[in-house]
Amino acid sequence: MPATSVVVLSGKGGTAKTLWQMTMAGEASRAGLSTLLVDVDPERNLSNRFGVPQHSTGLGSVFEQAGVTTGEGDAELGAKRAVAEILSTPWANVDLLPAGASLTGISQVAIADTWLLRDILTAAALPDRYDLILLDTGGRTGSLVTLAMYAADVAYAPIAPTTDAVRKATEARVRVDRIQRAHPLRWAGVVLSGFDGRVGIEEAIRANVYEEFGEQVRADVPRRAAVNEAFQLGDRLGDRTDVATASLAQIFLGFLLRDLMQRDDLLRVPAGVLR
Ligand SMILES: Nc1ncnc2c1ncn2[C@@H]1O[C@H](COP(=O)(O)OP(=O)(O)OP(=O)(O)O)[C@@H](O)[C@H]1O
Ligand SMILES: [Mg+2]
Repeated sequence: MPATSVVVLSGKGGTAKTLWQMTMAGEASRAGLSTLLVDVDPERNLSNRFGVPQHSTGLGSVFEQAGVTTGEGDAELGAKRAVAEILSTPWANVDLLPAGASLTGISQVAIADTWLLRDILTAAALPDRYDLILLDTGGRTGSLVTLAMYAADVAYAPIAPTTDAVRKATEARVRVDRIQRAHPLRWAGVVLSGFDGRVGIEEAIRANVYEEFGEQVRADVPRRAAVNEAFQLGDRLGDRTDVATASLAQIFLGFLLRDLMQRDDLLRVPAGVLR
């Protein structure tokens, strides 16, 4: 079965996009799914988390090789480079295609061929090599996010406890609706991340989100130090042994298997929505 390719979307600002993609990669690793993380964010947060040096090459060089800055893209050339740029990570079964220093320049050019990233991944046979491809995007809109959407099969948006949370997620859903005219990108809904039930304003925002998205709210991970710590340290969340953290890790895995990969058969323990 070819890989499920997942893009994370949201408007500007830290909404836990990288945290969700990276934490799910950790749980996929623990579950034995072979996973490719692709850093499509010129700010390179994901690459930094895995300690990739600032001046390294990566996806930026893949696009350069494909000729994206000169007009017509050549996916075959890009594919060769993509294979060469993939790094292994300390996490079993998880590889990383880092952003690369030149991705910033690429993010500023208009890329005419919206299928180019998908064609590069396919020409490199990456969907056959992995069970799961997770694409991390930056907050800004632009060509790179569009390319990532065309490269993906399914999209979701994380929601952080900020007052414009609903607007950002709505923007993401609208973008998916629009792209569906040309590409069958499935919308998997939204996930709440980092809400603190004891803070009145955050509860009010959460109520707003439920009002707007209802059943499309697929998971809710409360704010917990362990979640942030694992993300900052590059640990797999589920490796922590306390019961509370294990159940948080299960929420990420549940969303991944059930809503993104639609592989309920792989879900041993049903993931509940933790409050
Ligand atoms: N459930 C949670 N528990 C604790 N902290 C959380 C939780 N969810 C999110 N956070 C915090 O929110 C931050 C989200 O950062 P992250 O880099 O993932 O955002 P982003 O959407 O990728 O930002 P950018 O738009 O810059 O790419 C984390 O560093 C973490 O501190
Ligand atoms: Mg990010």
